[in-house]
Amino acid sequence: MKILVTAALPYANGPLHLGHIRSTYLPADIYARYQRLAGNEVLYVCATDEHGTPIVAGAEKQQKTPKEFVDYYHKKDAEEFAALGFSFDIFHRTSSKENKEMTQYFFKRLNDAGHIYTKEVELPYCSHDKRFLPDRFIVGTCPHCKAEKQYSDYCENCGKTLSAGEILNPVCITCGKKPVHRISKHYFFKLASFSDKLHKYLSENKNLQSDVTNYVLNWVKDGLVDWDISRDLEWGVPVPGEKDMVFYVWFDAPIGYVSSTKALTKKWEEFWKKDSQIVHFIGKDIVYHHFLFWPAMLMGVGDGFRAPDKMAVRGYLNLEGRKFSKSKNWFVSIEDFLASYPPDYLRYYQTAFTPHSTVDADFVWKDFQSRINNELVANVGNYVNRALVLVQKMEGGSVPRPEGLDEMDQKMLGEIAIAREKVAVLIDGFKLKEGQEEIFSLSSEFNKYLSDKSPWKEKDAQKNANTLYVCIRGISALSILLEPYLPFSAQKMQQMLCIGKEQVKWANAEVEIVMPGTKLGEVKPLYVKVSDEQIAKEEEKLRGNSDAQKKLEGKN
Ligand code: MSP
Ligand code: ZN
Repeated sequence: MKILVTAALPYANGPLHLGHIRSTYLPADIYARYQRLAGNEVLYVCATDEHGTPIVAGAEKQQKTPKEFVDYYHKKDAEEFAALGFSFDIFHRTSSKENKEMTQYFFKRLNDAGHIYTKEVELPYCSHDKRFLPDRFIVGTCPHCKAEKQYSDYCENCGKTLSAGEILNPVCITCGKKPVHRISKHYFFKLASFSDKLHKYLSENKNLQSDVTNYVLNWVKDGLVDWDISRDLEWGVPVPGEKDMVFYVWFDAPIGYVSSTKALTKKWEEFWKKDSQIVHFIGKDIVYHHFLFWPAMLMGVGDGFRAPDKMAVRGYLNLEGRKFSKSKNWFVSIEDFLASYPPDYLRYYQTAFTPHSTVDADFVWKDFQSRINNELVANVGNYVNRALVLVQKMEGGSVPRPEGLDEMDQKMLGEIAIAREKVAVLIDGFKLKEGQEEIFSLSSEFNKYLSDKSPWKEKDAQKNANTLYVCIRGISALSILLEPYLPFSAQKMQQMLCIGKEQVKWANAEVEIVMPGTKLGEVKPLYVKVSDEQIAKEEEKLRGNSDAQKKLEGKN
């Protein structure tokens, strides 16, 4: 089967942090890697989201052009994603030629089909800075929940998207002055006219999480409003036939999923229009855009496009009890994390506390340490090392030849097949955390088996050969089952067992792919423990940073 996996496109306006990984890029990567191993034809597509007012404002602050600004983050994000082992087939960008073309194509088709109209609107304009003030150029009070200091297009507090003019007590973000109003012609997408179709899509698609669709259906019930898809800006995808007007970033961003697929392969239409699965991974803050705007656009554009089949939504990550905040220096970037720990430590830890739901979680350094040391190192790390060192000591470093396996040996081989089957079902159903737990309990059973058999005490050489042979089968299985989760560890295991890339297939988990007689590669421990000193340093850094920041703010 063809499966298109996407992860929400990261804004190219700041460094990635641990939160982004938890909800979006890691789950999508595990899913994509598994589907490839299972023999499906998978494309894992992502790109940087490079338009919108935060980027224009961010560039202005650093006295850079928007282009220079996004170039920097596109490159940085690409490097960090690669370092975390994310297996994108393409990591493209929304300022690309392909995305410009695809966005204008969507617009033209939606317009021709009567889904778009223009309307004169009174919009905030800053007489001091001489420009219109869309979205993030304005802050004010949310009309729904009355939270202050919210951007004019989205309330972080209650999660509602806001239309132009809705925000209360608006001020210009650059000069702090109250804006005046000016008339401007804008383009609107008839979102409200899709209410019935969206209702049907959301209530009938059993692949969507019901806790999510329930509240989205409430938004539909409350009444959808048409959506202003143009902005008076220069940076963005130009609206055809207009001057100094571009599409709203949330119009061209999801189209980036399509244009990036097209940039990747001539077969892109088979993934978007034919018998395939379209699977989006997102965090819970962008549900509105993915469950309403995007399916409506796809339904409206016609030409064989169809709404997404599956959307996996996960909750937010906090850091030691508080929201991630770059400006408040309450932050652990990917760069900082990877300077001290291997990528698989993050992959393991985050999967371990991320269920398939919108519940939030907390990254706590001490908890990270104990999970790595007591689970990753003590279970898989310990088992693999113990078994391979015994093969070196007792079998001269070659995989022993089994003969007359006993009941216990047979049982362990059977356990592999059972686990392989279970994990497949779990990952397919997005239960990635439970899948990882299943693999770890297989590893722990092997650990126990090895202890029970105690080949270091047993005198019968053939019995010991059998035990260590079965242990090798266990490691070989773990190296395949863990590949989606911990690709770097899996690769190390495969190197030690001399497993070739072409043998790494899901169905091979319970197959004898490491033949008796195979000489092991160099045996090295997979992991080192995270020390108390390391954790103390991390905690100090975090608190020190934020104290320094508070002092700085006090002075201003
Ligand atoms: N550019 C949009 C997505 C466009 S998709 C067509 C965007 N970018 S983002 O950089 O803000 O977020 C990227 C992904 O990370 C999103 O799925 C978002 O939900 C997720 N997260 C951002 N901060 C997060 C946490 N603190 N915790 C968990 N996920 C977080 O949204
Ligand atoms: Zn609000």
